[in-house]
Order: sequence, then C-alpha cells, then structure tokens
Amino acid sequence: GSDVVRGERFSGGPARGFLSSMDADERIFEADLAVDRAHVVMLAERGIVEESSAGSVLDGLAAVEEAGYDRLSGEDVHAAIESAVIDRVGPDGGRMHTARSRNDEVATCLRYRFREDLLDTIDATLALRAALLESAREHVDTLMPGYTHRQPAQPTTVGHFLASYEEAFARDTERLVAAYDRTNRSPLGAAAFAGTPFDVDRERTAELLGFDGLVENSMDAVSTRDFLVEGASALASLSVSLSGLATDLVEFASDGYLDVDDDYASTSSIMPQKKNPDSLELVRAAAGDATAGLNGLLTTLKGLPRAYNRDLQTATPHAWAAVDAVVPATEVAAGAVATATWEEEALADAASGGFSTATGVADLLAMAGLPFRTAHEILARAAHEIEDGAAVEYATVAAAAEEVLDDSLDSYVERESVERALDPEASVASRDSFGGPAPASVEAALDRREATFEDD
Ligand code: ARG
Repeated sequence: GSDVVRGERFSGGPARGFLSSMDADERIFEADLAVDRAHVVMLAERGIVEESSAGSVLDGLAAVEEAGYDRLSGEDVHAAIESAVIDRVGPDGGRMHTARSRNDEVATCLRYRFREDLLDTIDATLALRAALLESAREHVDTLMPGYTHRQPAQPTTVGHFLASYEEAFARDTERLVAAYDRTNRSPLGAAAFAGTPFDVDRERTAELLGFDGLVENSMDAVSTRDFLVEGASALASLSVSLSGLATDLVEFASDGYLDVDDDYASTSSIMPQKKNPDSLELVRAAAGDATAGLNGLLTTLKGLPRAYNRDLQTATPHAWAAVDAVVPATEVAAGAVATATWEEEALADAASGGFSTATGVADLLAMAGLPFRTAHEILARAAHEIEDGAAVEYATVAAAAEEVLDDSLDSYVERESVERALDPEASVASRDSFGGPAPASVEAALDRREATFEDD
C-alpha cells in the first residue's frame, strides 16, 4: 500500500520502528477518525473539496474503521489512516489532508481523547467521594485515635477522618474540571503552525468535534502540550491524596481497627493465615506512575522551541500512563472504602490511649482562666507520670497541678469537668468549632459536603 509520509526516499530503514508511534497511537484511533470526518465535512461545506470527493473520503474512513486498528500500517495513526483511505478510494482520498498538517491533527486528537480520560477520572473521584460521604455519615459517632507524627494525638471520629479525605478529593475534582476546560479547545486548522491559505472554518470543526472554543494562535496551537501537563498535574495531586488514604487504611488494618473486605485483600502463597490489604498498597503505588508521568511530560517538554518538534510524540504516553494508573486506583479505593468494616470497639479503646485527652484537659484549664502555657505544663507533668497505655486518673492530673500551681486543682475547676475532659467521647463532643470533629459539627459539615457533591 501507499505510505504518505515515507515514500521511496524516507523509507525509514533501520530507524523505522524508532520513528513510529503506532503502538501508542491506538489510543487516538477513534479520535483521528472523528477529526478526519469533521475536517473533510468542513472542507466540503466551504467548497474546498467537491462533495463527491468528501463522500469518497468518508466511505474510505468507514472502511478503515470497520477493518480496525490492527490492519493499519505506517509511521503513525494519521499517516496510516490517510494511506489506507487512499488505498481504498484512490487519489481522491489524498484530498483529506488539504489545509491541515499532522501537527494540528495530532494536537486535536490528543485533546479529543484526553478530555474523555479526564471525564473518566472525574467520574472516579465522584464515586470515591460518594463512598467517603456515606461511610462518614455512618461513623459520625465512631471514636478513633487521631495522630500526628503517627503518634496518638487527640481522639476524633471515623466520620471526621473520612470527611477530611472527601474534602481533599473534592479539590481534586475541581482541578480536573479546570484541566478539562482548557483541554477542550480546538487546535484544528492551525496546519503545520503557520495557518493555511484555504478558507477554512475553524469554529465549524471545533463545533463538529464538540470543542468549546479554539486555541487561536496557529503556532501555539501545534506547539503546546500544557493541557497534558495540567491534566497530569491534577492526576498526580489526586494520586498523592489517594496514597495518603491508602496508607491510613493499610495501617488501620494492621492495627486491627479496620477490616478490609475480602474482595480487596489477598492472601500469601506460603503463610495460610494471612490476609493482606494488597489492593490498597497498589492504590498507594499509583502515585509513582502519576508523578513519573508528570515528570516525564515536564522534562520532555522543557526547552522545546516553537513550533512542532518530534519530541512531542514521546511526551504523550506519559499522560496516558498517569491516567491508566490513577483511574483504576481511584475506583478501587472507592470500593475498598465502601466495603470496609470499622472495628468500633478496638477504635474506642485506642481513642483514649496515649493520654490523647491531655490537650482537652489543658484547654479546660485555660478556659477556667489559667494561661494555656501553665495548663500545658501541668498536663505534660501528668503525662510523664503515666505508664504507657495506663488509664489517666483525675488524681494524676490533680497531683501535677498542685506541684505547678502550689494550689489545689479544684480551686480552679470542678472535678467532674476534669473527668469529662478525660473521657474521649466528651473530649470529641467539646471540639465543636467549625470544621471540627464534634458529631454536631461533622453532621453540619456533611450537609454542606453533600450539597457540593450534588453540584459537582
Ligand atoms: N506521531 C506524531 C506525534 O505524535 C504526529 C505528528 C508528526 N508530525 C511531524 N511533523 N512529523 O507527534
């Protein structure tokens, strides 16, 4: 068959495979057919090609689509489709490439396909957020230890913890939507970079392809891949949020606070008793692919001059790799969250461990009029007295207070309020600031989060 870009002279020789993007281009096969159709329809509408020629091209494209990607051969999908159309319908097929270049063609195909990938990613974030919101509602009152430095810090609730991730993933949705909006613009009609003397209608092809406007400047239109950078950046950010969630869940599973559903766990080929949270570890690992994809893009694009350079061909697969890692990871995370069982008793026991109510007692003393720093010193002294894991008694706090204050604790604050502050449930309930973990605060936050979710 014919080869529209190689001919006799540029047969490719030993570099043929090296030059080819056929493997990666399968992903834009449908996109290229759509771009070819829109372009040839516009050419006919403008009288640039005869309707009969356009009809032949459309017939040829239908036959190429029918035959499938595997039947194509050429340097890339664009050249291969054009060659195949010419093989099928004769020289009229060669009118398809009037007033365009592979440079605007590939840029258009990438945007056409990548916007679908971004929509799939957005859908996955919505599914994950739905799972987080639903579980958060169920666990507004479920106590758990909260950590800083992965040391028990202050008691909180599973609802507050899950809602914290939902809010992060909501920002990821926003970033993906912004990336979608800037991706969804048409470079078609820019030709090689320098426009065309044919009287093309760029708005018309943009409309036929469902784009929301143009990348106007013909040199910018073929050069830029910033839409891939922006999308990959949103994917990388999402993947980092996912990796944090995955680590928390893996660790809670090993602490005995969370039972990962069997569907998301694996066993060991040697240790028969094992149940491992492998799916969540792979969710965590997606951040490696996504950040590699973003870095691959940025380092490939850095320093490229205007306008088209073949380096751009190797930039693209970095973006696909980020999508292919992050979308399934997001979907699996949603499933794992929705099906996991929180071990409420173990969590409640752990919630009071490590004297995690110390801050709450210090807050109480400060509310009673002591400088917070003095209150902090009293509780630090009390914490020092407590054996690892032992329950904290009123007496311990009172003894520490007397040493620091030269006065008895109950002259500042009633014994019952100290005892309440030492109780993790009361401690959480007292932290009812806006966005805080008190069940009432989380219920109100979830009302707002659900409204945002519905809008998204
Ligand atoms: N396969 C190429 C790419 O992905 C298409 C454009 C080739 N253009 C050219 N002037 N060689 O970038």
